[in-house]
Amino acid sequence: MNTVQPSSNLYKVRVWDLPTRVFHWSLVLCIVGLVITGNVGGNAMAWHFRIGLTVLALLLFRLVWGLVGGRWSRFAAFFYSPSSIINDLLGRGKPEHSVGHTPSGSISVFALLAILLAQVASGLVSDDEISNAGPLTRFVSTATVNLATHYHSNIGKWIILVLVLLHIGAIVFYLRRKQNLIRPMLHGDKELAVAVQGSRDDAASRIAALVIFGICGAFVFWINHLAS
Ligand code: HEM
Ligand code: HEM
Repeated sequence: MNTVQPSSNLYKVRVWDLPTRVFHWSLVLCIVGLVITGNVGGNAMAWHFRIGLTVLALLLFRLVWGLVGGRWSRFAAFFYSPSSIINDLLGRGKPEHSVGHTPSGSISVFALLAILLAQVASGLVSDDEISNAGPLTRFVSTATVNLATHYHSNIGKWIILVLVLLHIGAIVFYLRRKQNLIRPMLHGDKELAVAVQGSRDDAASRIAALVIFGICGAFVFWINHLAS
């Protein structure tokens, strides 16, 4: 299923299902919006909060999709042993490890997801001491609010910037080695020399993704209303 043999001897395999692709490009747009609104401040903070909460819903969705999503989007598909990572970095990676996220690429994916979660979590208890306080500030001590605000505004944003630059650098590196990773993140398919099972990406799995995202969104809505 989801593997088609074209006229050449390459197999077209659905690697990134639609929900993973929509997650990725929505995340990119949101992070750009958050950096802009966070730096503009003032009235733009209302949008900073809305977009930040959307990122929380997206990240929660991705955590669940990492367990039940398409084959190559599951964490189990790119949770590699240290020896696989070392071999990959030494250019001795196995061919089947280049279908989805590669062993070295998986480090970047897990790091990005973890640091974005930390940024959202710290944002929820940050306070700019003017008129914008995260929805959960009243549940934690002033010391925690100060620490979280310091992390959110002075540390986390720089770590995200470095990770995103490394991420884009890696994509450009592969482009120069004639491997376009962007196209599969846009239309879902890779052309591979070996026939491997593709990710499920049909109407039912897409509806399931929508339902999961809806539940994550409702949870975030509830968190946001804990403040009132
Ligand atoms: C704010 C900026 C960005 C963030 C936070 C980000 C984050 C991520 C994350 C979390 C993944 C893993 C996807 C998953 O399995 O769910 C990923 C993969 C990917 N991203 Fe980005 N991304 C950013 C910008 C970009 C840009 C600008 C491009 C294109 C030039 C890009 C191209 C890709 C590609 C091609 C992959 C798949 C890599 C692979 O084949 O292993 N990303 N990104
Ligand atoms: C990945 C998600 C997020 C990113 C990348 C992000 C990024 C930023 C940036 C760049 C700033 C400006 C820092 C500066 O003053 O230089 C900022 C400030 C702020 N953000 Fe976020 N943010 C995120 C999520 C959130 C969320 C979910 C909330 C709350 C619901 C939030 C609340 C705040 C607050 C209150 C400030 C002002 C802090 C201060 O004045 O020092 N952020 N954020």
